[in-house]
Amino acid sequence: MLLKILAGLLVAAVMAILLDLYNTAEVPKQHQRWQSQFPAPGAEAFNVFWVVQVTDLHISKFLHPERASDFEKFCMESIDFIKPSLILVTGDLTDSKTKDKLGSDQFEMEWQMYQTILKKSKAMEKWKWLDIRGNHDSFNIPDLQSFRNYYRKYSALRKEGSFHYIHRTPFGNYSFICVDATLTPGPKRPFNFFGILNKRQMDELSLLEKESQHSNQSVWFGHYPTSTIMSSSPGIRAVMSSATAYLCGHLHTLGGILPTIYSRHSQGTLELELGDWMDNRRYRILAFDHDLLSFADVKYDEWPVVLITNPKSALYRSSAHEPLGRMKYSTHIRILAFSRFPITSVDVELDGVFSERAVHVSGPLYVLKWNPSNYSTGLHRIEALVQDASGKINTRSHMFTLDDNVSLSFDFLSSLILLSDLYIMGQVFFVLMVVVQVGVLVAFRYLRKPALKRNPGFVSLTFFSFHVMSKTNCVYYPLLLLSLYTAVGPWFVGEIIDGHVGACFAFGVIVNGQYFQGSVTYFVGVLQLAFFNLPLMAYLCWCLLLRCQGHSFCSHVRSGRRLSSVPIHIFMFLLLIWQVFSCYFLLQTYGILSFFLSPMRTWLVLMTLFLTQRTWTLGSSELKIYIVEMKTCRSS
Ligand SMILES: *[C@@H]1O[C@H](CO)[C@@H](O)[C@H](O)[C@H]1NC(C)=O
Ligand SMILES: *[C@@H]1O[C@H](CO)[C@@H](O)[C@H](O)[C@H]1NC(C)=O
Ligand SMILES: *[C@@H]1O[C@H](CO)[C@@H](O)[C@H](O)[C@H]1NC(C)=O
Ligand SMILES: *[C@@H]1O[C@H](CO)[C@@H](O)[C@H](O)[C@H]1NC(C)=O
Repeated sequence: MLLKILAGLLVAAVMAILLDLYNTAEVPKQHQRWQSQFPAPGAEAFNVFWVVQVTDLHISKFLHPERASDFEKFCMESIDFIKPSLILVTGDLTDSKTKDKLGSDQFEMEWQMYQTILKKSKAMEKWKWLDIRGNHDSFNIPDLQSFRNYYRKYSALRKEGSFHYIHRTPFGNYSFICVDATLTPGPKRPFNFFGILNKRQMDELSLLEKESQHSNQSVWFGHYPTSTIMSSSPGIRAVMSSATAYLCGHLHTLGGILPTIYSRHSQGTLELELGDWMDNRRYRILAFDHDLLSFADVKYDEWPVVLITNPKSALYRSSAHEPLGRMKYSTHIRILAFSRFPITSVDVELDGVFSERAVHVSGPLYVLKWNPSNYSTGLHRIEALVQDASGKINTRSHMFTLDDNVSLSFDFLSSLILLSDLYIMGQVFFVLMVVVQVGVLVAFRYLRKPALKRNPGFVSLTFFSFHVMSKTNCVYYPLLLLSLYTAVGPWFVGEIIDGHVGACFAFGVIVNGQYFQGSVTYFVGVLQLAFFNLPLMAYLCWCLLLRCQGHSFCSHVRSGRRLSSVPIHIFMFLLLIWQVFSCYFLLQTYGILSFFLSPMRTWLVLMTLFLTQRTWTLGSSELKIYIVEMKTCRSS
């Protein structure tokens, strides 16, 4: 009860802080770099370019061959209709998972499949193609020189590490900075789910940031969202604060929970996670039109694609980075429309009123004369309806504003996911759970046990069983050891990279002489505590209570009235099966050594069996006083 209230208060406090932290409304700022209101968007096919981003291809030799074949068609046809200035492929080019999906390894064949697509589509000759590594592309790589680092052999870029690419145009220079936070050496699944940027890598990024200050706009891109990067001071978000947007992937669509994950950092940088190619066939077209950013995340082979670049969406405004005032001085609405067939019409609606048909300028650009002063205050809605020669119609709409005082916020869940530090959350939950478990064990050992009331209820019986557990040495010490060990001990020792033995702790992984700070390990720890250690403790308490009520294992099994307890045994048994399965996972993933040298897995299964057996065979002498107490409070 007390725990529930405390937990409730804690959640409320955390929510209050988060709501404040994740209020992502644009803070109006006087932009220093952008006093100039000109060039303002007009009718010319100038001052505009667009790029394509695609992420998380997961090309696999075992499953879903259409992933690769669709990507091939995308490269051979779709991109030709879009003609981007640049293509960013933000990691996880290959799946690199074993056939049973448990293990991870680099397969040369998957990389060859990727390279074949590049070659067949002449992607590298036709386009500027920047393909970077994701966590899947660096599974099981002892060092970058290793032959298993196929990225070096088969990708277009073949360059690990962060870099700065400048897209030069007659109307301005545009910086694209890659953030490479993948781990070197690269441990197997799941230990590179979080990226790391050490001091040296951060210094490098700071230098790139300085270089980019001469550019009109800068966009940063990487595989990992910033919430899944552990970076040394001053932190990746501070270093990239001059960027208009950070483009990433990695989280896919969170298994369909969030089709789009976008937010804005406090300095105004947008963070735009893109859904995966793997299952969702997403890609992104991002445009700078007169230095105003706009983008559309769309699905492969769904034409026509529409992107309204002026007036841009109110949600993605950044007064710190963009010359937003230009929209007020613009003479034309500007729309990019792409299709595999000729476009037949681009119709525009403003605030629900049909405006006029936009006229074609050149390439995908369509413009329509407008009078922005009619929309100078408040929020308005623009909608573009595009039809192509095949009869297909697509519409796109957004809210826009020319008013600096109006601002919109991103949804709470997306902001929570992108703006927090997920590894710190994992760490906090883990530590809290360990402290609670150890606290309960130790507190009840030293608390004086009150006499049991007559006809005790659920709560008093629970407390009674806690007392019995903590005061019975052969249960207390193993459980205390288990919870302390979960926090400090190595969970297992095994081949975290093939041929390289390492150890896994709650607070990190050591492999190949390298220590990787804990991140995903805390989440593994939280799952372990929530779905094994704590249920085991509760189960043993319950068994002890039955013992105190005078049951032996045989009498408990035979007693017909105890049918209601069957689900409890089954539940514990299923949890044990899960634990056994994770032993199998260790065996499959990190080798036979890890199976035997795994205190938190194989040994724990044995200990659980032993502890349960011990609880049922515990000599009555140790429980005698409790048995007597139970009896008297029931019979009286
Ligand atoms: C890019 O920056 C240059 C120099 O500041 C400026 O002259 C030019 O107009 C800018 N380009 C655009 C499209 O705003
Ligand atoms: C782009 O950069 C080049 C080289 O740094 C510079 O000469 C040129 O003036 C820049 N262009 C614009 C439009 O700022
Ligand atoms: C916009 O304003 C102009 C004059 O400023 C006026 O002639 C025109 O009718 C207005 N259009 C709309 C749609 O309100
Ligand atoms: C925006 O707010 C400022 C002060 O908060 C006010 O002076 C200004 O008139 C407002 N602008 C518009 C367009 O409403």
